[in-house]
Amino acid sequence: MANTRVAHFKPTASHVAIIMDGNGRWAVRRGMPRLAGHAKGVERVRDVIKACPDLNVSHLTLYAFSTENWKRSEDEVAGLMRLFRRYIKKESAKLVEAGVNLRFIGNRMRLDRDLQEMMAWVEELTSDNDKLYLTVALDYGGRDEIIRATRRVAAKVAAGELTESQIDEATLSAHMDTGGLPDPDLVLRTSGEVRVSNFLLWQAAYAEYNFLDICWPDFTAEVFADCIRNYNTRERRFGAAVG
Ligand code: FPP
Repeated sequence: MANTRVAHFKPTASHVAIIMDGNGRWAVRRGMPRLAGHAKGVERVRDVIKACPDLNVSHLTLYAFSTENWKRSEDEVAGLMRLFRRYIKKESAKLVEAGVNLRFIGNRMRLDRDLQEMMAWVEELTSDNDKLYLTVALDYGGRDEIIRATRRVAAKVAAGELTESQIDEATLSAHMDTGGLPDPDLVLRTSGEVRVSNFLLWQAAYAEYNFLDICWPDFTAEVFADCIRNYNTRERRFGAAVG
């Protein structure tokens, strides 16, 4: 019974992960090019980052570009890459000032070399910060990440650094791109789609999900605050019995 009591608690969402969906639809509905929706999406990213400290969100993970997003038109992919470059260039000083620790997850080897270098540069620049741990998933897929983590573990077993029986949840977690980060408490998805879309498949095993009927460019700081308040009234049981 002691376990049951431990498993029941009123949580605060300290790690929030977001699938920022619906930029394209938002733009097309307004007769604008899809990239205008993505540019608007960057403004919402800024707002959400700014809102985190007041909402006691210490970790924020954003799905910016999936392993499947390479299938989009060449123009849209190039436009998104331009936005990522511009974001790093324009926001790096502000991120430092706000104490944001930025890290990227995903298979970055497929990105252009100069973007990879910018990502490594801003990660290093912000590595001592601890006010907000911001993780941006870029060329990220949950299955791809699990495969890469498994390969890292297998290489250690082959090198005699790990034994088969030492492989457990903690070992696999530590070898994921997110190694060292806590699991997300709350996963939000905008655009009305009710899908997980290969996002944090391993890490979100016990997360709460909230699917919102608005597109990402309409996701204001107020909506974010409502989501956090809503989460904070839920009870998480981690598989324990009700009552
Ligand atoms: C999904 O909308 C959104 C994306 C694929 C890109 C998300 C990127 C940003 C919000 C911009 C930059 C982010 C950072 C961290 C600087 P969609 O195009 O799939 O929308 P649709 O489903 O309506 O077509």
